[in-house]
Amino acid sequence: PKKVTIGSLQKQRKTGSPITVLTCYDYPTALNIEHTHSNGGADKGIDIALVGDSLAFTALGYTSTSQLTLEEMIHHCKAVTRAAHTPLVIADIPFGYVGVSDERAVDAAIRLVREGGVDGVKIEGGVKQASVIEKVVDAGVPVIAHAGLQPQRATQTSGFKVQGKTKASALSIVEDCLAVERAGAFALLLEAIPPQLGSYITHSLNTPTIGIGAGNGTDGQVLVQNDMLGAFDAFKPKFVRVFADIGSVANEGIAAYARSVRAREFPSVDESYGIDQGKWDEIVE
Ligand code: KIV
Ligand code: NA
Repeated sequence: PKKVTIGSLQKQRKTGSPITVLTCYDYPTALNIEHTHSNGGADKGIDIALVGDSLAFTALGYTSTSQLTLEEMIHHCKAVTRAAHTPLVIADIPFGYVGVSDERAVDAAIRLVREGGVDGVKIEGGVKQASVIEKVVDAGVPVIAHAGLQPQRATQTSGFKVQGKTKASALSIVEDCLAVERAGAFALLLEAIPPQLGSYITHSLNTPTIGIGAGNGTDGQVLVQNDMLGAFDAFKPKFVRVFADIGSVANEGIAAYARSVRAREFPSVDESYGIDQGKWDEIVE
């Protein structure tokens, strides 16, 4: 299968072919995405593999994305890019690198590309982050901007709450989106906003939009892989749909294994390396 490119994503937007995005955090979760290309054939695969900083929760058990370091993110990106060859691979710049100095953000972006092997980065922000997004793009690193609910600012915004429900909030999100588009972001992620605002922004921009809890009118959708596979249930946002519940399948399988061991039913003869009884008798003679 042909590698997804920024150009092919723009073409999808133009032709109205929805863009599919899914997170991944390591070699097996990235293989799940790569396999959609070999199993599904053309136009059936996941277009963008996102190494989201949600890995702080789903892969590392942290209680906040602010605990995730750049080194940890790079370590996970390396595993992902050993498996994900066909989708465009994008990594979140972790908390603490954007809004300190432009140089700090640009260095982090370059390390994610050079050491992590990803194709580009995602940066949360809007009007205030437009200049740093422009610097990262100038350095040659493609950027997806992330507007609406910005999880790295969840403490400042008093929790994970839907954004854009007042006129002032909706207008400021539209301003954010226009600013990051002007700054050169090649796509825009919209999180937790009313569907009308998601559609409005999509019509107002030339840049592909990818929604999560932003309704059905964006150019694409993204979900957290562990959420949509029922493999992470510490909390469940409104926008999550469980498409396959591998969490409960895993629980049942592991419980069945433990039962079989305790019943001395596992392993069976077929699952053991047998030798002829005669040969064994010679050994113990
Ligand atoms: O970290 C993440 O998983 C994200 C989501 C928008 C999917 O940023
Ligand atoms: Na994220």
